[in-house]
Amino acid sequence: VILEWFIVLWISVHHVSARVPVSAAKLKARRQRWNVRASEMSKNTLNPIRAIVDGMKLTPNPEKPMIALSIGDPTVFGNLPTDDSVLQAMKDAIDSHKFNGYAPSVGYLQSREAVANFYSQAGAPLEAKDVILTSGCSQAIELAISALCNPGDNILVPCPGFSLYKTLAVSVGVQVKFYNLLPEKSWEVDLQHLESLIDDRTTCLIVNNPSNPCGSVFTKEHLRNILAVDLRFASRHCIPILADEIYGDMVFPSCEFHSLANLSSDVPILSCGGLAKRWLVPGWRMGWILIHDRNNIFGSEIREALVKLSQRILGACTVVQGALESILNNTQAEFYQSTIGFLKSNSEICFAELSTVPGLNPVMPSGAMYLMVGIEMEHFPEFQNDVDFTERLVTEQSVFCLPATAFEYPNFFRIVVTVPEEMMVEACGRIREFCARHYRPLSQESNDLDQ
Ligand SMILES: Cc1ncc(COP(=O)(O)O)c(C=O)c1O
Repeated sequence: VILEWFIVLWISVHHVSARVPVSAAKLKARRQRWNVRASEMSKNTLNPIRAIVDGMKLTPNPEKPMIALSIGDPTVFGNLPTDDSVLQAMKDAIDSHKFNGYAPSVGYLQSREAVANFYSQAGAPLEAKDVILTSGCSQAIELAISALCNPGDNILVPCPGFSLYKTLAVSVGVQVKFYNLLPEKSWEVDLQHLESLIDDRTTCLIVNNPSNPCGSVFTKEHLRNILAVDLRFASRHCIPILADEIYGDMVFPSCEFHSLANLSSDVPILSCGGLAKRWLVPGWRMGWILIHDRNNIFGSEIREALVKLSQRILGACTVVQGALESILNNTQAEFYQSTIGFLKSNSEICFAELSTVPGLNPVMPSGAMYLMVGIEMEHFPEFQNDVDFTERLVTEQSVFCLPATAFEYPNFFRIVVTVPEEMMVEACGRIREFCARHYRPLSQESNDLDQ
């Protein structure tokens, strides 16, 4: 034993003494000057909306008050408050003094049970173990992408589409491939295009329904066709789906929302959602992942991956978790209906106004909070693109719409329809004035008019 000790001691002393000069030299070299560098991950993190908006010269016309139709936050103008029952649930959660501590990383069991009960459907049953609570739907998307993809893999993302998918994927070395949505078909997926993008490194298909930025809502039949594409590939690729359903149920009365999971018997689906939009409290940062895996394809591996990732930083605020059961169960149907009624009426006003403006082609939404407008750029030769067009709209008319280049879809702009009605009417009038001023008929058309 003594000999053993001696050997261990000798090795460790020898080892340390042998390393000292090397590490000292290294340390010396490193410390000769400051060289604090940003990480590769931070350099690869890019929010296209910020990149585009920050690069624009947004100087409003001082004679006209600014109207921002660009902000996807329904609370900014105060015209769409959340329901009193939602506020009461939060007050009760605070007053109970029960929700000030740390919750399990996936959320309190009781809160997860409440979400499971609320979203369980005959075709897509859920239990508490199938729910992970997150900090907003954004974290749900991040966890889902990080659980499914390795650097070098690729994901399929809608175009136009919510820019966060790309931001999150690219920052962890995952490539993004955009599949086209078709404006002339109410923004349905170009299934052939989608199919053509799949390769053996495709690890996730993102489907966003209802859509930001399009406000489109897929029919049951179209959703089945999307699943069929994946199934047709089943023998070759078997791609799980991330269904971003944060606008789930926010659809106009003329159509119906179908969750993708309820239509899928084979394809495993991570459905991401949250309180932000339907309950009009985006700042409360409550989101969730619903794991739909009836055929045990994700199995324990993906569930464990999601749990491990949830342990990096605790997600959902515990007070909101404490209020969740009451929020889901006690919000009255009238609250949802009145929000939807408002969004529909504002969309109709905006669509009716802009569809008679020469040079613009609005696409009527069926849900969510957005409306996309096509710009016939050939009629506006002064402007190079949608960014240029929307920038000048601010300069001349103090109306800001987000150029759809931010959604990888040039020559369109997006309007948020949550603004008060009088603002919407005023903004549309100003957009009309702007277009009338800059619209130029094509030379053939002006010849025809002259004849
Ligand atoms: C399509 C889509 N997914 C996810 C999110 C993020 O939601 P949250 O605010 O809950 O993180 C948004 C927010 O605008 C969105 O439009």
